Amino acid sequence: MTQSSARRSRSRSPSPSVEYAASVIPGLEESAGDEIETRLEGARIIETQRGWVVFQYPGQAGDLLELRTTEDVFVLLYRSHELPTYRKEALPTLTRMARSSRYWDQALARFHQTRARSVKRVTYRVIAQMSGKHSYRRQEVRDAVLAGVQARWTGWKPIEDDAHLEVWVPVIDRWAAIAIRLSDRKMRHRTYKQEHRPASLRPTLAAAMVALSNPRPSDRFCDPMCGTGTILAERALVGPYRALIGGDADPEALRAARSNLSAVREMRSAASLHLWDARSLPIRSGTLDVVVCNLPFGKQVGTHVGNPALYGRFFEQMIRVLRPGGRAVLLTSEKELMRQLLRDHRELRREREILVGVLGQAARIYLLRRA
Ligand SMILES: C[S@@+](CC[C@H](N)C(=O)[O-])C[C@H]1O[C@@H](n2cnc3c(N)ncnc32)[C@H](O)[C@@H]1O
Repeated sequence: MTQSSARRSRSRSPSPSVEYAASVIPGLEESAGDEIETRLEGARIIETQRGWVVFQYPGQAGDLLELRTTEDVFVLLYRSHELPTYRKEALPTLTRMARSSRYWDQALARFHQTRARSVKRVTYRVIAQMSGKHSYRRQEVRDAVLAGVQARWTGWKPIEDDAHLEVWVPVIDRWAAIAIRLSDRKMRHRTYKQEHRPASLRPTLAAAMVALSNPRPSDRFCDPMCGTGTILAERALVGPYRALIGGDADPEALRAARSNLSAVREMRSAASLHLWDARSLPIRSGTLDVVVCNLPFGKQVGTHVGNPALYGRFFEQMIRVLRPGGRAVLLTSEKELMRQLLRDHRELRREREILVGVLGQAARIYLLRRA
């Protein structure tokens, strides 16, 4: 909210709708935007930045905690596309905005809608994130905002850990925001997920892949290399399905999947889980509607050398078990191998490819359709 945009929205309506922001895995901005507009009635996306989606929502702030593709949600105190380039101007601007934002009261009211805990004395901390080239450091951004909050709320106490309130300051090139975090770690760490394994998928990414598969109640849905079952769990959470099928070659992974899925309270009918080799699936031809899978990248799981053989045989199986028109959503960092496979297997039409950052490495989500 720059001063001028705030003025503009005030002239339209006496109480401007609050602006929120969601942080997302880079690349999932559009998927998260879709979820925000579908799940939150009346929500409107204002803009996206890498890893961030800014939106307005007229309802209760607590509703935002239902989102599944977002890592965290925030209410905004300040937003600008024109953070001054030089430190001498940028840092005082951030201090001033943190101190005198006209949105503090409504932002705190939204914050209290999401928190049951009331405290005698508010403790807080400031977290700065930066990307792009700047003539100042992250620590200086943090200190600048901290100075502003301290000047505004003299009774509040800044602490390092377990603060009651967190003020986040993302700075991306000249875009900057100051925001109060509404979610806690429960948003990104699902309660069902007690068992973790190497290369276990982030639930928010699994949720986005499931959403991209366009879930329908008639789905026979399968994750053929399900690991700890994150994709199956996220599918169970979005609504009815005809069958939920998963498998893995590793008995330990399967045990973890069983345990995680048993903790999903929304599970309508049990998932059927199998110890199998995805290179020869014991599934009848043409009987699956959807395959969603996080393939071994060849780093933590599998090997780069072994992947061409694994992917090649898995592709043949996937084409066999999917019904005509069936959908596949695959995640992998094996860009070249996927290009070759999609060139060789014309039965799979590539509908979209989305670049995502998975723990700092580039990967792609492929949306495919069985011709
Ligand atoms: C990247 S992990 C999937 C992680 C999973 N999405 C999760 O959240 O835990 C890939 C999985 O593929 C399994 N896998 C590798 N080769 C396989 C094969 N030939 N058949 C079945 N599963 C296989 C591994 O055991 C591993 O659990």
